[in-house]
Amino acid sequence: GDYTGPLRPRVHYSPPKGFMNDPNGLFKDNNGTWHLYYQYNPTDVVAGNQHWGHATSPDLYDWTNQPIALFPPNSSTGVFSGSAVVDSNNTSGFFQNTTEGVVAIYTLNTPTKQVQEIAYSYDGGYTFTPYSGNPVIDVGSNQFRDPKVIWYDDHWVMVIAYAAEYVIGIYTSPNLKDWTHASNVSHVGFLGIQYECPNLVKLPVKNSSSDTAEDGWVLTISINPGAPLGGSITQYFPGTFNGTHFNPYDGATRLSNFGKDDYAGQFFYDEPVSIGWASNWEYTNIVPTASEGWRSSMTLPRNNYLVDSGARGYQLVQEIYDVSPVLSNQLNTSNNLVNSTVGNITFNNGVYFDMNITLPSNVTFAATAAINFTVSTSSSRESVRGGYILSSSTPYTIWLDRGQTNGFDSPFFTDKFSESQLRPAKRIQGMIDRSVFEVYVDNGAVVGTMDVYPAEPFTTLSVGSGDLPGGSEISFAAWELKDVW
Ligand code: FRU
Repeated sequence: GDYTGPLRPRVHYSPPKGFMNDPNGLFKDNNGTWHLYYQYNPTDVVAGNQHWGHATSPDLYDWTNQPIALFPPNSSTGVFSGSAVVDSNNTSGFFQNTTEGVVAIYTLNTPTKQVQEIAYSYDGGYTFTPYSGNPVIDVGSNQFRDPKVIWYDDHWVMVIAYAAEYVIGIYTSPNLKDWTHASNVSHVGFLGIQYECPNLVKLPVKNSSSDTAEDGWVLTISINPGAPLGGSITQYFPGTFNGTHFNPYDGATRLSNFGKDDYAGQFFYDEPVSIGWASNWEYTNIVPTASEGWRSSMTLPRNNYLVDSGARGYQLVQEIYDVSPVLSNQLNTSNNLVNSTVGNITFNNGVYFDMNITLPSNVTFAATAAINFTVSTSSSRESVRGGYILSSSTPYTIWLDRGQTNGFDSPFFTDKFSESQLRPAKRIQGMIDRSVFEVYVDNGAVVGTMDVYPAEPFTTLSVGSGDLPGGSEISFAAWELKDVW
């Protein structure tokens, strides 16, 4: 692939050429190599002709493109989204001499219906053979897709979307070949127009200072179209799971991102680690990166856990996965950001910043009390901006604005995003990586991801704060990003 285009992210994954959407088949092999497959059209820069592209990485940032892993059997079919497992006990019977057998479970989209198929790999996930007994599930529906499989005690569990019915089906299997319908989760949260790409995952529960002994379950459901901000978004439901039935703890709807460009996220098999697709079906097929021969990137990789937030119940925390492998030289560090500004932090590839904030308790914040950050082009004609509002009339609100960019225009390319918290933030991390801007508040309790398309490259970061009360402290540091390509 040619990764020289000015909109090409340096540390977020994007495909060698053509069009990419959902992450698929995520797993980590016994050598510690992470495998990322993805919905892939190798022949055009719009969705269609779906294959599974493939890339591998030692650290979730430095990806090596691999040959396409799954091909549609003919031109009227597509290999749609799905997952992968490591069948170390050879439950499937495919693997006589290895504990490293990989099975992919995916939807085959045909002109008349969507059926579930499996394929097995003897070489650790590089090449796959479709099972001769396919399909393994066929309910005669043309809206039935995106199987995600996990292991529970003594059996496999699949969650899958009956997309047009707002139902997530739960199936069980002893061997990945024979599947039994066990239960449904119906009509929860925002319905959108369709449910897609469900995930069921067991995550550690932490309190503010340490791990607890508990685990908790989370069901994620992606909806498209019909997200509250338009197009596609992912929601999640903390709850209980007993091997066959999932029950959400409450009726609340929680979105996993307050931006507009984080969809169809998937968890790695048997890991609390996830990656999302950093785009939105409302405009993904028309964004300007086509002139560079590619479209769409992934989100940053995330390490996930749950916290009990009190008033809002269990909350998903999506930490940035250890980013140190892709940080280059430190550009700036300051312990003096309170009511002052550090401007002109210049970078080439992109910038990652980390702000730790201590505020006095029991104060009333001035109406103008705020933290701000701006990324601009060298001519200053374009910028993306963000900040954190402390004032009690708009309490504890993170916001982002991509309106001042000139490289792309669409009525669906919403400018402004925000989310409010119950308490002031203690930490804000941000990354501008060419055409992707991500912000993580309080280690990922609140995450904002937005694509940005400047006409000229971003070169400069400035950060600052104003009207913070006495006793406030902010420590700040910024790093240049490496270029993994
Ligand atoms: C979600 C989705 C899935 C489907 C895939 C097709 O973005 O629509 O439901 O399997 O994309 O590429």
